Amino acid sequence: MIIETDDDKKQLRAAGNILSGVLKDLEAAAKEGITTAELDLMAEHAIVARGAVPAFLNYKPDGAAIPYPAALCISINDEVVHGIPSQKRILRNGDIVSLDLGLSYNGYFVDSARTLIVGGEGDAPARRLIAATREALNAAVAAAHAGAHTGDIGAAVERVARKYKLGVVKDLGGHAVGRAVHEKPFIGNEGNEGEGEVLPAGMVLAIEPMLSEGKGDIILAEDNWTYKMRDRSRAAHFEQTIIVGEGAPEILTAL
Ligand code: MF3
Ligand code: CO
Repeated sequence: MIIETDDDKKQLRAAGNILSGVLKDLEAAAKEGITTAELDLMAEHAIVARGAVPAFLNYKPDGAAIPYPAALCISINDEVVHGIPSQKRILRNGDIVSLDLGLSYNGYFVDSARTLIVGGEGDAPARRLIAATREALNAAVAAAHAGAHTGDIGAAVERVARKYKLGVVKDLGGHAVGRAVHEKPFIGNEGNEGEGEVLPAGMVLAIEPMLSEGKGDIILAEDNWTYKMRDRSRAAHFEQTIIVGEGAPEILTAL
C-alpha cells in the first residue's frame, strides 16, 4: 500500500510494535528442547492477545498447493523460509533458526523475520552468516528511499553477499505489504541499480534478504511450503516492514 493519511501511519506503527514485541518473546523462547509447534502456538496466542490476527494462518498465495497451516514460519539450518511448525521438530543448540511472522491489526498487515542461533553461541561460520545477512538487510533498507528503483535494493543485497562470499538465495524476495501479506511490487534480492520500478514515498515494503553459506539455489520440500537450499548449505533471513520516505525509511518492525 501507499500511505495516504496520518491514521494509516499510526495503525501501521501499532501493528509493527505488536509484531516486534511478539517476535522478541519468541526469540527468547527459542531454546533447546522446545518444539517448533510450541513456538507457533505461542505466536498465535500472543498475536490474538494483543488484538491482532495472524496473517499467515490459512494464507494461500496464487500458485500455492495448500494454504499455509500455521501462524509462524520456522526454518532451520538448510531450510531458508516457510518451514512449517511441527510437534516432531525440536530445536537443538547450535541450530540456525529463522522466525518469520506476519499479522494484521485493524486491517493493516506487517511482516518481519529474524534469525538466531539456539543456545546463543553456535559456530563461527553461523555467526558470520547471520551478521552478514543482518548487514544485507540494513544495506537493502538504506537503499529503499523515494525515487530509488527496486533493482537498487537487490544490488545492495548482492554487494554485501559478495563481500562475505556468501550466496544470495534465488527466486525469493520481499514485497509491498500493508493491506495484504503480499502486494506488488516484488523486491528481489538480486538486481541491478537503476532497473525495475521506481519507489514512491509512502510505499510500505517488506524487505527480506536471505543469504546462504553455499550456492543460492533452492528446492521446495515435499510439504509444499518449506524452501531448502539445494546444496544443503545453511541459510539466514531477516525481514523488516518499512515506510519509504525521502531520506532513511521508517522501520515499523524494529529488530
Ligand atoms: N514473510 C513471508 C514471505 O513474505 C511470509 C510467508 S506467508 C506464508 O514470503 F503464509 F506463506 F507463510
Ligand atoms: Co515477507
